[in-house]
Amino acid sequence: MNTNTIQQQLPVNTILHDNCIEAMRQMPANSVDFILTDPPYLVNYRDRDGRTIQNDAKADWLKPAMREAYRVLKQDRVAVMFYGWTKVDMFFDAWKDAGFQPIGHLVFRKSYSSKSRFFRYQHEQAFLLAKGRPPLPKHPLGDVLDMPYSGNKLHPTQKPVAALVPLVRSFTLPGELVFDPFAGSGSSCAAAMLTGRKYLGIEMDDAYFEQAASRMSRVKERIAAKRSSPSFPRSIHDPSVPGSLKADHCSAM
Ligand SMILES: C[S@@+](CC[C@H](N)C(=O)[O-])C[C@H]1O[C@@H](n2cnc3c(N)ncnc32)[C@H](O)[C@@H]1O
Repeated sequence: MNTNTIQQQLPVNTILHDNCIEAMRQMPANSVDFILTDPPYLVNYRDRDGRTIQNDAKADWLKPAMREAYRVLKQDRVAVMFYGWTKVDMFFDAWKDAGFQPIGHLVFRKSYSSKSRFFRYQHEQAFLLAKGRPPLPKHPLGDVLDMPYSGNKLHPTQKPVAALVPLVRSFTLPGELVFDPFAGSGSSCAAAMLTGRKYLGIEMDDAYFEQAASRMSRVKERIAAKRSSPSFPRSIHDPSVPGSLKADHCSAM
């Protein structure tokens, strides 16, 4: 992995294998342009294959992690954070305690149900959170977005890159730094790389860290291969170009 250092103690274009609270404490304040993250939902999740998520059964990490996330985010920038709706009170409390202001709420409509009880549960959700007074985007996204099925091959709660790319484009410029402290299989980082942004991910679980690190190498190789194709630069994630590197293909990469 090619790692650049743009500021003291701030590695970029890499996934760190670490506890994000400890790792963020080593990062300078006001150092990342956008946080796009999907922390554990505090639901003690286990999928059909028995895969689990670290820190999903206890919340002692939530407030310290959100405080550090707020500290490392640049002033007048935003974070998009997924959360588990059953624990919305705890997430909201942690965000407010850290200093974040909620400025939007996103619903991701799924074409499938994650479970069926009183409803067929068919959406994911995230808050848009501000540090300071961020500028308005030129072309605001709708706050209901589609979320195709990722396949969950690399991670039991893998987010599809296709749902993340519009957020990266809306809240960052090319070359800016997208940060995901709960990187899982690296979906936010893949969305950043595909859109020409820098990325920094942190993942504490050994297996998911390996998935994320090898995935980023694959995405990088695919982008390099596209760069050498005659239709470059339009062939990187441009749906109008046949055979372009589409974000939905990167969920499986
Ligand atoms: C909901 S999953 C993220 C899945 C990711 N969005 C994806 O598409 O693969 C949350 C991840 O945070 C990781 N995690 C939990 N606590 C952490 C901590 N303190 N530091 C770093 N990673 C942590 C878990 O191992 C898990 O992979």
